[in-house]
Amino acid sequence: MILTAISILVLVFFILLFGVVVLPAFFGSPWHPLLPATIRKILDFAQIQKGEKIYDLGSGDGRVLIQAARNYGASGVGLEIDPLKVWVARKLARLSGVDDRVQILRKNFNDFDFKDADVIYVYLTHQALDRLIPEILPYLKPSTRIVSYRFCLGNRQPSKVNDKQNLFMYRLDKGVNVDGYS
Ligand SMILES: C[S@@+](CC[C@H](N)C(=O)[O-])C[C@H]1O[C@@H](n2cnc3c(N)ncnc32)[C@H](O)[C@@H]1O
Repeated sequence: MILTAISILVLVFFILLFGVVVLPAFFGSPWHPLLPATIRKILDFAQIQKGEKIYDLGSGDGRVLIQAARNYGASGVGLEIDPLKVWVARKLARLSGVDDRVQILRKNFNDFDFKDADVIYVYLTHQALDRLIPEILPYLKPSTRIVSYRFCLGNRQPSKVNDKQNLFMYRLDKGVNVDGYS
C-alpha cells in the first residue's frame, strides 16, 4: 500500500517535471527559476521607469513582472505556454497585490503583437531568439528596449552589457552586425 502510494508520487513528480521543465524546451526554452537578487539585477539593468509596459516572453512563474510592478511601478504582460506556470504566476501576482498591473496570458509568444512594448524581456535560448526576434522587430516601437538574460541576440550589437556579460540591452534605433558575446 505504502509502496504504491510512493510509486504514484514519484510518477506524478516526473510527469510534472516533464511538463514544467522539459516540454517547454521543445517550444523555445526550458524553465529555470531565478533568484530574487538576479531579478533585481535584471530590472535595474533594464532601467525600468514608472508607467512603462514590459513584456516577458516566456514568463515562467511571473516573478520578473511582479517585481517590476511592485518595486518599479511598471505594468507587465507575461506570455507563457505552460498552463501550470500560468496558474502559479497569476496566483503570485494576486498574492503580491499587483494583478491589476500584471497580466499573464497562456499564449505562444510566436503568435503575438508587442507594438505597445516599452521593454521586451527575454530569457530564452539562442535558437528561440534567432527565430523570434527578426519576426517581431519590424512591429516594435523604435524606442523599445530588448533586454536579454544570459543569451545575446545573433548579429546585433548590444547598446549595453553588464560586467558579467550575462545581461544584454538592445535599442532598436541602434545596431550593427557585430556579435562578440556568447
Ligand atoms: C528560462 S524560462 C524564463 C522564465 C522567466 N522569463 C524568467 O526570466 O524567470 C523560459 C520560459 O519560456 C516558456 N516558453 C518556452 N517556449 C515558449 C513559447 N513558445 N511561448 C510561450 N512561452 C514559452 C517556458 O515554459 C519557460 O517558462
